[in-house]
Amino acid sequence: MAVERTFSIVKPDAVAANNIGEIYSRFENNGLRIVAAKMMQLTKEKAEGFYAEHSERGFFNDLISFMTSGPVMVQVLEGEGAVMKNRDLMGATNPKDAAPGTIRADFATSIDENAAHGSDSAESAAREIAYFFSDAEICDRIR
Ligand code: PPS
Repeated sequence: MAVERTFSIVKPDAVAANNIGEIYSRFENNGLRIVAAKMMQLTKEKAEGFYAEHSERGFFNDLISFMTSGPVMVQVLEGEGAVMKNRDLMGATNPKDAAPGTIRADFATSIDENAAHGSDSAESAAREIAYFFSDAEICDRIR
């Protein structure tokens, strides 16, 4: 399987609950390398741009208000099949539907506050990585 990169967010609920390290361990224990990371407070404009494709959905304002409610960790993950691997590790969008042992089953409380974001395709990953990171901020860890 090809080595690829994906984009990930540890959302404000999981940062507030001090679960950054637990979630990073899930990545590292499952063959994903963190090749870029930073903590940031999203502005309304930055969050609205990131979720622009959902702007017509009923939950959009709640989503933006949640994503700007406190700091997030944003990271680039690298590994074989990283996009799908990260989606599998996160589990279903609604934690009630997430398989036991997934990040959302273990750390999320509701569909509104669901602990993590992960790109849903290689194309989304490329766009989302570029939305948050310059090339110079992403490290080459393959030796
Ligand atoms: S997907 O993969 O785009 O189809 O996922 P989707 O279920 O459409 O959700 C898109 C993002 O919106 C978030 N979401 C919600 N936020 C608040 N309230 C409700 N009801 C809600 N439903 C979905 C969901 O967590 C997705 O955010 P990300 O950051 O991509 O996980």
